[in-house]
Amino acid sequence: MLYAMSESKERYLVTSALPYANGPLHVGQIVGAYLPADVFVRYLRARGHDVVYVCGTDEHGVPITLTAEREGKSPREVVDYWYAHMKETFSRFNVSFDNFSRTSTPLHAKNTQLFYAKLKEGGYITEAESRQMYSPTEGRFLPDRYVEGTCPVCGYKEARGDQCDNCGSWYEAYELIEPHSKVTGGPVEVRETTHLYLDLPSFSGRLKGWISDQQHWRDSVRNFVLGIIEGGLEQRPITRDIGWGVPVPEPGFEDKRFYVWFDAPIGYVSSTMEWAELAGDPDRWREYWQEPDTRMVHFIGKDNTVFHAVVWPAMLMGAGEDGEEPFILPYDVPANEFMNLEVVVDGEPRQMQMSTSRNLAVWLHEALDRFPADPLRFYLASNLPETGDVAFSWREFQSRVNSDLIGNLGNYINRVLSFTEKYAGGELSRPEELPREALAAFEDFKEIEARYEKKMLAPRPREALGELLALGRRANQFFDSEAPWKTRKEDPERTAITLYACAALLGSIAYHAAPYVPEAAEELREFFTGPIARVTDLEPPSGYRVTGARPLFSRIEDAEVAAAEEQLSRAARGEAVSPG
Ligand code: MF3
Ligand code: ZN
Repeated sequence: MLYAMSESKERYLVTSALPYANGPLHVGQIVGAYLPADVFVRYLRARGHDVVYVCGTDEHGVPITLTAEREGKSPREVVDYWYAHMKETFSRFNVSFDNFSRTSTPLHAKNTQLFYAKLKEGGYITEAESRQMYSPTEGRFLPDRYVEGTCPVCGYKEARGDQCDNCGSWYEAYELIEPHSKVTGGPVEVRETTHLYLDLPSFSGRLKGWISDQQHWRDSVRNFVLGIIEGGLEQRPITRDIGWGVPVPEPGFEDKRFYVWFDAPIGYVSSTMEWAELAGDPDRWREYWQEPDTRMVHFIGKDNTVFHAVVWPAMLMGAGEDGEEPFILPYDVPANEFMNLEVVVDGEPRQMQMSTSRNLAVWLHEALDRFPADPLRFYLASNLPETGDVAFSWREFQSRVNSDLIGNLGNYINRVLSFTEKYAGGELSRPEELPREALAAFEDFKEIEARYEKKMLAPRPREALGELLALGRRANQFFDSEAPWKTRKEDPERTAITLYACAALLGSIAYHAAPYVPEAAEELREFFTGPIARVTDLEPPSGYRVTGARPLFSRIEDAEVAAAEEQLSRAARGEAVSPG
């Protein structure tokens, strides 16, 4: 039977949340939306699935204009700088996007307006007046984040426009006492303004039915979203009084722009279209957005859940009713929890919340200045906030890398490669028969490989990493019990057979490690010739060859960790300079 293992190949569209182009990436963002997606995507590709992985920068909205005003730059300057910086940092970290676009492209503006037009045609857009804060000196409406005043509840003087950081109350900005502009300090007043609203309530029945059916979603995500829908959805404004963003194609809205959360998820579509365009097959994006069997998976941090699992699906439902092919809905929205920091203060490790404004964060580009991508990826993947909050710790980084990546996986690979070179002349040919012990190891590998795949596709790449370590332990155990260092004198033939079986296990370990440590997997091919494949699919090759093997990873030294820790402690003491 030639095709005994005919397996179905699926089509996937994978996305990572579009990061705001207003500052450097930190590890909290990486574990939320980028590393798990990249590991997942790399595994899917290796298994032969059809995958497109898109992302890009989120370049509109108040986060951008606030940064620009603080830095005395134009929004355009800010997003151009950070787009390039982020693109470069992702590439240093080996995040394998098929396309990394940005939301300030003309194509994206056109798509956003098209989505709006379709929603309007479907009857899902209404217009209404609301009261907003207006700054007469600046001659503009101010977003909530631009307004400060005294909390109407507790009297705290620096309360934000929509929420008090002191007592936690939520209110409308016009309820603040003595509200003033955060930018100029000048007084602000209440004025009426008109906005467009998405009629979210009219989707609530459909959304509820759809989400209840998503039994493969994480319970935390499904229950959270169902709770929100049951609590009652409201009309959502999709425009803002702001000058930076996608123009609204309606008379009277010349000074307004679409709300950033309206245009941002459409960025996934725009990025896919751009990918298809660049690939020379401009219509191909349709397969990924309109074929009902495509699995669209949105990796996000949990603070983005409502937008991806409620508002965005409603937009997709509403925009797909005009007789054209409808859009598919997300297949899964794996939302991750948060990452805190372990900071050493006066010699004591303490958990703290990251704070980008206080520069209390582990910035990815700086971490990459200290360490290669592979060990950072490995540690972060072993510590993904898949089921609860986690903490980043440089000490934990050192011990995970030195004991698991190097002590378990690297050690096995080194032993097999160096024994093969030293005692088998670098050549291992297929034996007539494999001994019972080798076949037993192969059987165990098949089981662990199946568990790994199940966890990876869940998608729970952190749990799959646990299975990778199980492969390493099983392989080390086989090597130890066969003791090739003993048999090589009395029974060189047996030794060569053992090493042949070891090489097959090595091929499987490399296959399953590759999504986490892609550089090492690549480098291995320079001195290891033979299939990098699951034992499950292995067609035993006529031989393996090893030449010029060298260790794939270097130990993380105490001094390196101390320096990285010291930087964080300094930041926690408030002595840090701002990033950039
Ligand atoms: N920029 C948003 C954030 O960082 C995420 C946008 S995700 C998108 O929180 F899908 F809307 F683009
Ligand atoms: Zn208060």
